[in-house]
Amino acid sequence: METVKRIGILTGGGDCPGLNAAIRASVKTAIQEGYQVTGIRNGWSGFFDNDYEELDNIRTSGIIDRGGTILGTSRFSPLTVEGGPQLVLEEVKKLALDGLIVIGGEGTLTVAYLMFQLGLPVVGIPKTIDNDVRGTDYTIGFQTAVEIATEALDRLRSTAESHHRVMLLEVMGRHAGWIATYAGMANGADAILIPEIPLNKARRNWLFRMLNNRSKKGISFSVIVVAEGTILEGKTIGNEASGKFDTGDRQLLGGVGRVLGDIIQQGTGLETKVSSLGYIQRGGTPTAYDRSLATCYGVKAVYLVAQKKYGEMTAIVGNRITASPLSQVAEGIKPVPMEVYRFAQRFFG
Ligand code: F6P
Repeated sequence: METVKRIGILTGGGDCPGLNAAIRASVKTAIQEGYQVTGIRNGWSGFFDNDYEELDNIRTSGIIDRGGTILGTSRFSPLTVEGGPQLVLEEVKKLALDGLIVIGGEGTLTVAYLMFQLGLPVVGIPKTIDNDVRGTDYTIGFQTAVEIATEALDRLRSTAESHHRVMLLEVMGRHAGWIATYAGMANGADAILIPEIPLNKARRNWLFRMLNNRSKKGISFSVIVVAEGTILEGKTIGNEASGKFDTGDRQLLGGVGRVLGDIIQQGTGLETKVSSLGYIQRGGTPTAYDRSLATCYGVKAVYLVAQKKYGEMTAIVGNRITASPLSQVAEGIKPVPMEVYRFAQRFFG
């Protein structure tokens, strides 16, 4: 009797546009290759809640352009509870999974790597609007977030011009300023502030000088983009309104725009208005690029399982869809290359 081959799939961490395109591609490819597919709901916590669903062609049809994830997600890590890793390994055995595809960002993929070391037959797919995952040039969702942030900056510039104001937009980016850098460059922003370059006294003075010089030259408006994790005089700014930490024990960020807006207005005397893009940049339909990238990653992930290349994740390096070791993700985040930042910097002020 032929034994049934089975793949599991879960999405963990923050959602992003393109997750459903990746799920669809993995499921349809897996079925073509003779696998049955189990969806684990709400990230790793699905194993603890026995929350599973059978995924087939019908369930994954018509979802390529849909935002979010049909599987649900959470920031729960099995490593934070006693016996958690063991429970996951046992569930994977019970479900008879030949391989588990984990679609996640830096946090989820680091957990996947540690679970791989404990014997989990896992392959990763990198996703996050933050694009800060090592081992790949791009993560699913980043390109869509850049499009949304660029549109927001363009809209802010037109109103900044009418009212002769400084407009400041806060975008996501905990440890790296990928969205801020690329959206800022696409908009021609007058300053781009990112976590990689702390805003110390000297840089704050440069910012004031730059804004005042624009005024003196008769340019009565400016547009600035700031990543949420940008360090202001040695501190990141937490979002006190919603509590200090999330379920993953990470500090909740948000509010750097508001604090910086006050600093700029006081330091320059220029009227400064602040907007925060928030979750809008993580929702909705993915761009064509993200759908294609997610599709390639979904197919490649099934190939990796079929070849038993556990402990690896799909990646794009240059133009090639390839695989990188998950161990690279665990080494830390991928900062914005300073060369790219300096290209954008030429147009400041
Ligand atoms: O992980 C990506 C990200 O977009 C970060 O930039 C941001 O800090 C975080 O998600 C917020 O997500 P949540 O509030 O859903 O945990």
